[in-house]
Amino acid sequence: MKIFTFFLMGFFLLTTNAINLENDKNALLDFMHNLPHSRSLNWDMNSSLSSVCTQWTGVTCNEDMTRVIGLRLPGVGFHGHIPKDTISRLSSLQILSLRSNGISGQFPVDFFNLKNLSLLYLQFNQFEGELPKDFTVWKNLTVVNFSNNKFNGSISESICNLTHLTVLNLANNSLVGQIPDMGRYGLQVLDLANNNLSGVVPKSLHKFPKSVFVGNNVSIVYGNGEVPIVMPPKANLKTGRKMSEKVILGIVLGVSVFGIVAFGVFWIMCCMKRDNGDGIGISSKIEKGGMSPEKAISRTQDANNRLVFFEGCNYAFDLEDLLRASAEVLGKGTFGMSYKAILEDGTSVVVKRLKELSSGKKEFEAQMGVVGSIKHENVVELRAYYYSKDEKLTVCEYYSQGSVAAMLHGKRGEERVPLDWETRLRIAIGAARGIARVHTETGCKLVHGNIKSSNIFLNSQNYGCVSDIGLSSIMSQIATPIARAAGYRAPELTDTRKVTQPSDVYSFGVLLLELLTGKSPVHTTSGDEVIHLVRWVHSVVREEWTGEVFDVELLQYPNIEEEMVEMLQIAMSCVARVPDQRPKMTEVVKMVEDVRRSTGSESRLRESSTSPRPEVFETEASGL
Ligand SMILES: *[C@@H]1O[C@H](CO)[C@@H](O)[C@H](O)[C@H]1NC(C)=O
Ligand SMILES: *[C@@H]1O[C@H](CO)[C@@H](O)[C@H](O)[C@H]1NC(C)=O
Ligand SMILES: *[C@@H]1O[C@H](CO)[C@@H](O)[C@H](O)[C@H]1NC(C)=O
Ligand SMILES: *[C@@H]1O[C@H](CO)[C@@H](O)[C@H](O)[C@H]1NC(C)=O
Ligand SMILES: *[C@@H]1O[C@H](CO)[C@@H](O)[C@H](O)[C@H]1NC(C)=O
Ligand SMILES: *[C@@H]1O[C@H](CO)[C@@H](O)[C@H](O)[C@H]1NC(C)=O
Ligand SMILES: *[C@@H]1O[C@H](CO)[C@@H](O)[C@H](O)[C@H]1NC(C)=O
Ligand SMILES: *[C@@H]1O[C@H](CO)[C@@H](O)[C@H](O)[C@H]1NC(C)=O
Ligand SMILES: *[C@@H]1O[C@H](CO)[C@@H](O)[C@H](O)[C@H]1NC(C)=O
Repeated sequence: MKIFTFFLMGFFLLTTNAINLENDKNALLDFMHNLPHSRSLNWDMNSSLSSVCTQWTGVTCNEDMTRVIGLRLPGVGFHGHIPKDTISRLSSLQILSLRSNGISGQFPVDFFNLKNLSLLYLQFNQFEGELPKDFTVWKNLTVVNFSNNKFNGSISESICNLTHLTVLNLANNSLVGQIPDMGRYGLQVLDLANNNLSGVVPKSLHKFPKSVFVGNNVSIVYGNGEVPIVMPPKANLKTGRKMSEKVILGIVLGVSVFGIVAFGVFWIMCCMKRDNGDGIGISSKIEKGGMSPEKAISRTQDANNRLVFFEGCNYAFDLEDLLRASAEVLGKGTFGMSYKAILEDGTSVVVKRLKELSSGKKEFEAQMGVVGSIKHENVVELRAYYYSKDEKLTVCEYYSQGSVAAMLHGKRGEERVPLDWETRLRIAIGAARGIARVHTETGCKLVHGNIKSSNIFLNSQNYGCVSDIGLSSIMSQIATPIARAAGYRAPELTDTRKVTQPSDVYSFGVLLLELLTGKSPVHTTSGDEVIHLVRWVHSVVREEWTGEVFDVELLQYPNIEEEMVEMLQIAMSCVARVPDQRPKMTEVVKMVEDVRRSTGSESRLRESSTSPRPEVFETEASGL
């Protein structure tokens, strides 16, 4: 009996499924037969049901082949109006592409039946009249491309309620009215160019480049109620852009000359080092069985000079161990070479070999004592130092994830793992706290002096952690800064040559800009122009195109634009030209911490950490 019921149910299921697919098949045939087209389709009414799913051009079914869920018919040469009650019967449809045909008429009202519609491509047709009045019937609508039609209505406010909307392209229509506030959820790609829209661009859409609003009569008002900018028509905009590029070029030329000189100095210094028989190149390499400073140290090794460890340091090694350790060149910094040394017990440490000390042993030891006493989760701990006539070393913790500079600027390309906003925020908060801690030392007189992304690491909680503290005041470097460090230097240092806490704040501001833009403080464009980040950001922000400042890599994370704009404002206050106008580091910490507090909620935190759905963008491309 049971078996019989089971069989009956199975039969029933089979038939209802077959009926569903049969209905879909008929809907497709009705559509094809009632809409003229110039290319023929291989949709044979006498073919089996399964061949609908497996053979019919442009048709995709669900996994168990019971419903049609995708219909992609681009460039089939359809013309005329979409026949009523045809496509709308495909009630399980999720993907519909009729792009690049000659379909005319109004948007089909009966598409409201397609409740599961997620991807809708109708671009390059002759659709006219109103856009759908209520978008919320398609709860799952993710990608909408209506570009290059003749739609002349307004954009319904209801579009703001689409929580899944990721891509919206309405460019090249004749749409009128205001732009709804539709950037509240995960909208990532937007194009409204060349319509007849008016009014003010909502704040939630400020993250998009100005080009997506071009060709409308709209204005953008940023921040504290500044003057609205009327969007010039497309042609004017282009010349406007060229002008500003020229201005940037002019500003940048000075920097460029400086940069080249500095780079030259840097190279000469490297080469001289090599001629000295040091045997260390600038590129990283692993030298087994002996650390490179060995030769230098062993020549003059003095029994009285020992590694000085700081309290609480439980490293069990001495100079001998250090010399025996295998070392890897990590890089050449402002104050000398850094090596990663792996001790025999497997511990890794960073050994920095300082060159050109300007101070004597007493001063050096005093400064190291101060720095070594700082124990803070956002400060890279100085574990030990070494001083002899010919060699000065510092020993710090090693961070396996590498520096923030490497994370931001390392291999941009296919394999790159983007540095997400959460992490960038944590880097900023951590670094700010670390620097603020440094600034409380020695009666609030200690200066970091060398804040840059290659000196920031991630601690175990993935917050920023600063290293290389307090060296600048005992080193004779400031006269010849290397090119990379130049972008972080506060303008007053050119004259005073003395790092201060306000100049630290400036450098931290540059670090924030680097996190926001993904650009190096001094970098060259593809056209070999040298761009000074602070000046570039100033010029872009002055022109009110704030959105264009941000790292493209960040655009994929939803709902972070407010936080980014806030962070940008903090950065701008830190890089104020006049030192007195810069905030104190303790204030900066509060501001940076407040970025998340004022705009963020737990849910947002979760949302932005889930990655977007890339398959959405690929479906259409892989269609016909
Ligand atoms: C389908 O089959 C019917 C008869 O079964 C026939 O009259 C008709 O021509 C066939 N149509 C096609 C497109 O083969
Ligand atoms: C729409 O999608 C949901 C979830 O995928 C599914 O349960 C539902 O049956 C679909 N609706 C139709 C009409 O196919
Ligand atoms: C919307 O799509 C998601 C997956 O993309 C699915 O889980 C959900 O059931 C869909 N909802 C509707 C109403 O189709
Ligand atoms: C939009 O286009 C339709 C058909 O072309 C026309 O009848 C209608 O008047 C237009 N509406 C506006 C507001 O221009
Ligand atoms: C939308 O259509 C336009 C015009 O064909 C195209 O350039 C754009 O890539 C499309 N956007 C998406 C997300 O498919
Ligand atoms: C959008 O959602 C809000 C709140 O959920 C609601 O008040 C409003 O009526 C909705 N708008 C439309 C056009 O559906
Ligand atoms: C809109 O039309 C212009 C000019 O014909 C074209 O350059 C642009 O790519 C079109 N935009 C889209 C999204 O198709
Ligand atoms: C744009 O809209 C204004 C009124 O809002 C109208 O006068 C003008 O003709 C429209 N332009 C186009 C190209 O539709
Ligand atoms: C642009 O909009 C303003 C009002 O917002 C209006 O005064 C002006 O006439 C419009 N310009 C054009 C070309 O439609």
